[in-house]
Amino acid sequence: MKSKKVNLAVLVSGSGSNLVALIDAVKSGVIADGQISLVVSNKEDVYALQRAENAGVKAISIKRSGFSSDEEFDKKLVEKLREYKIELVLLAGYMRILTAPVLEAYRDRILNIHPSLLPEFGGLGMYGMRVHEAVIKAGVPVSGCTVHIVNEHVDGGPILAQAEVSILPGDTPASLAAKILREEHRLYPSTVQKFITGFDI
Ligand code: GRF
Repeated sequence: MKSKKVNLAVLVSGSGSNLVALIDAVKSGVIADGQISLVVSNKEDVYALQRAENAGVKAISIKRSGFSSDEEFDKKLVEKLREYKIELVLLAGYMRILTAPVLEAYRDRILNIHPSLLPEFGGLGMYGMRVHEAVIKAGVPVSGCTVHIVNEHVDGGPILAQAEVSILPGDTPASLAAKILREEHRLYPSTVQKFITGFDI
């Protein structure tokens, strides 16, 4: 147990079920060495923001339309992350590709969860139900989820942990997504805790 908790930010764009799993993990002590200090959404009116508010976690939205470029948007994001003294950024269904300002400010301090066994079924355009559709179409027997460090390569950063799920006859993209999501909710918090155990703060 650390003397000071690591300040976490969670970046979201949608439903926020992984956000809830992370919030619950902080409460239950699965994430013993971290606290969620900020939730950032790039969209207003998403369920994730409501869920953050319900849990009493500070949540803001920053819309891309207010900025002249992706880089300018990400500079604003970094400004907010610094304002809240964020030390580790967790992407949880965040639907934007990060650009240099944030990647450089938080080098090796940004994690993501992806709903496949990377490097399979990852990369540009592989998100949401598209991933599970491609997996079912490929006829592979196993899929799962991956927690990785975020770098310039979309879904290509160093892998920290994976969980596998069997694909059974009759599985559809939707049933597979649901099974994997349950694993995500377990894998992401435990991996975050392991990762921050190694922090020197
Ligand atoms: C998850 O499947 C995650 O792997 C992917 O986006 C989805 C987010 O779901 N990156 P939720 O918003 O956490 O419910």
